[in-house]
Amino acid sequence: MTYILGIETSCDETAAAVVIDGRTIASNVVASQIDLHAQYGGVFPEVASRAHIEKIGFVVEQALKDAGIGYEQLDAIAVTRGPGLVGSLLVGINYAKGLAVATGKPLLGINHIEGHVYSLWLTEPYNEVDFPVLVLIVSGGHTELLLMKGHGQYERLGGTLDDAAGEAFDKVGRMLGLPFPGGPNIERAALDGSPVAYEFPRAKLDNSYDFSFSGLKTAVMREATVMPSASARRREPGAEKHAQLRTDVSVNDLAASFQRAVVTVLSEKAARAAKDYDVNEVLMAGGVSANHALRQTLRHMSELPVRYPPLNLCTDNAAMIAAAGHYRFLEGLRSDLDMDVKPMWALTSEAYAE
Ligand code: KG4
Ligand code: ZN
Repeated sequence: MTYILGIETSCDETAAAVVIDGRTIASNVVASQIDLHAQYGGVFPEVASRAHIEKIGFVVEQALKDAGIGYEQLDAIAVTRGPGLVGSLLVGINYAKGLAVATGKPLLGINHIEGHVYSLWLTEPYNEVDFPVLVLIVSGGHTELLLMKGHGQYERLGGTLDDAAGEAFDKVGRMLGLPFPGGPNIERAALDGSPVAYEFPRAKLDNSYDFSFSGLKTAVMREATVMPSASARRREPGAEKHAQLRTDVSVNDLAASFQRAVVTVLSEKAARAAKDYDVNEVLMAGGVSANHALRQTLRHMSELPVRYPPLNLCTDNAAMIAAAGHYRFLEGLRSDLDMDVKPMWALTSEAYAE
């Protein structure tokens, strides 16, 4: 049996958790910065690092306390090494190094995307995943389509060429005057709107497995906003930078039609990949996998079992880092104390080779 402490600070959640054997959550503490960033309408990197520094000690202590164990019972300390915001990653990694030195426990630098993958191992049903599986990671920072052939074995089939799916939700949410983060608020607004009110573009990208959401975002902006009038620009210099929401459009219809465009393109590509690679299941994780329309459409189009985590494990957390850490620990990974962060770290079978 392994007891792994996970530490996650790659973006805007300061998180620590203890996971037993890669499957059972002994504790899972997440200090969210959503309220802090809401005033900026997005994650502000400098503010994020500072908040991580303030909270990390308390969050880790709480994770140990909630799990009812001491540092001596841990087998290893797993920490997110990347991808993510440099300043934020550094806070977690330096704290983890300090702990590793103080406790003599092994240090494991874990890929954040792999963490999202392993959130599925913390999720019912607990029966073993039937490889090969297709994995769709859709979060605020990432959109990745992976073929997973076994533990730690990934083939990257595609990903976003511009905005991540969650980022598109957040940007369109802001455009529509909805609170941050955009995803859940667009989903809520869409419930009272028509998904066929607008026919928004879906980038097909030559039948590749890549995604692009910037054209869609621009199309929504064209329908939803107007530039301030000449007189307003004269009254308020700089106003031309701020497109304003039109008063004669339905936010609900725009939200529903935008959501349908994102959900359709994600589901179509994932379903096609599932068929092309003859997988047994589809796994989905990351913040956007909380979206009910996406869950439903993906299941319908792929005609396969689709697994996704419960809400609290969809968004960033440290239990998923500890779960991935468990498999890496068994495989023999031991990171050096001089390990650096990897802000752009892609997840492939060779990801841990160097
Ligand atoms: O996984 P996560 O915490 O972020 C990263 O690791 O980057 O996911 C946060 C993202 C945000 O962009 C948020 O808008 C989106 O997930 N999200 C949703 C929903 N809930 C959260 N997007 C669509 N529908 C939702 N219900
Ligand atoms: Zn994430």
